[in-house]
Amino acid sequence: MKKCYNLDDFERLAKRALPSPIYDYLIGGADTEWSVQNNLNAFARYSLMPRVLRDVSTVDTSVSVLGAKLDMPVILSPTGTSRIFHHDKELGAAKAAERAGVMYALSTLGTTSIEDVAAVKPGPKMFQIYIHKDRSLTQDFVDRAKAANYDALCLTVDTQLAGNRERDKRSGFGVPLKLTPRSLLSFVMHPGWTLNLLRNSDFNLANISHRVAANKGGPGSVIGYVNAQFDRTVTWDDVASIIERWGGPFAIKGLQAPGDAKRAVDVGASAIMISNHGGRQMDYAPAPIDCVEPIRDSIGDALELIVDGGVRRGTDIIKARALGANAVSIGRPYLFALAAYGEKGVADMLRLLKEELERDLALLGLKSLDDVSEVAISKV
Ligand code: FNR
Repeated sequence: MKKCYNLDDFERLAKRALPSPIYDYLIGGADTEWSVQNNLNAFARYSLMPRVLRDVSTVDTSVSVLGAKLDMPVILSPTGTSRIFHHDKELGAAKAAERAGVMYALSTLGTTSIEDVAAVKPGPKMFQIYIHKDRSLTQDFVDRAKAANYDALCLTVDTQLAGNRERDKRSGFGVPLKLTPRSLLSFVMHPGWTLNLLRNSDFNLANISHRVAANKGGPGSVIGYVNAQFDRTVTWDDVASIIERWGGPFAIKGLQAPGDAKRAVDVGASAIMISNHGGRQMDYAPAPIDCVEPIRDSIGDALELIVDGGVRRGTDIIKARALGANAVSIGRPYLFALAAYGEKGVADMLRLLKEELERDLALLGLKSLDDVSEVAISKV
């Protein structure tokens, strides 16, 4: 395995490992991709004030989130179709998360079933729901997640329809798959990836394919699937019944406005995942990290806050905590690591992140994440 010193190093390796249409799908965002870039840049606009001459001989990064004990406040975000990045797919990411003591979130659009992930991930795990026009599918998800002992459910609410991903249009990665000569060449130039997928042909949206013909167009079919099957009539009125059926820790993912956070409290959620879907849905949606403090101010301690979008460093986790979040969630970096080296890559990425977090806490003069409230955080 080539040396990676930080999470961004895995992106370079993923770029090499993947045909360009797949890499573009992974890194891409909506419209101008301003939100993708701004999510990353926003963290750099905060500074942390170190305190010195404190005993930091031991540092504790553990927290409790969504009723589960984690070795660090990190969740692997739900991301569909992991099989297109590596044959270790969701199972590899979930196993690496288990070893690192963090939570793994499986997407509705995953290429591994709720039950198969549970079999390799006895520790903290969450299932992410999209509400389909076929409402009985939602009930099915809730019941299956309960039977498989998932700790939490999250409902993603920012995907009423698929965002406008122009990279995919350019590369032809969509429905129907219309590859350009350049895209085709890229598949030929990555024979390992291409043959592996063709030979095993195990691409399957494992949680929905028994109910909906979701796989007809292969990996490129996901955006078409979202637009055809997701229910755009969903409102706050639909959320309470899902929470009631589930009866456990429940997060609403993909809201950013303090007013919506208040609605999440009223409807009975236990957490919010403050997110703009990694800039893949509504372009010019603000950076999630900038929404943490306003939401915490508006709802107090009523809910746990998890923030995702652009988290790449141990300092990013500390900044999120200092602004009022309980935990962070990470998308692309673990998919880069998965694409580069499968399960081992994700394990390595999580090890690096933990080392960064421990080092940063000690350099700030903090023994644990509970002490982060003492840190002076400023906008620069
Ligand atoms: C996602 N995301 C996502 N979110 C979700 O709720 N359900 C899903 O199926 C997916 N699928 C998905 C696929 C890919 C390829 C990416 C990159 C992202 C969004 C994801 O959960 C998370 O919000 C962002 O990835 C966070 O931003 P970063 O960490 O990628 O910057």
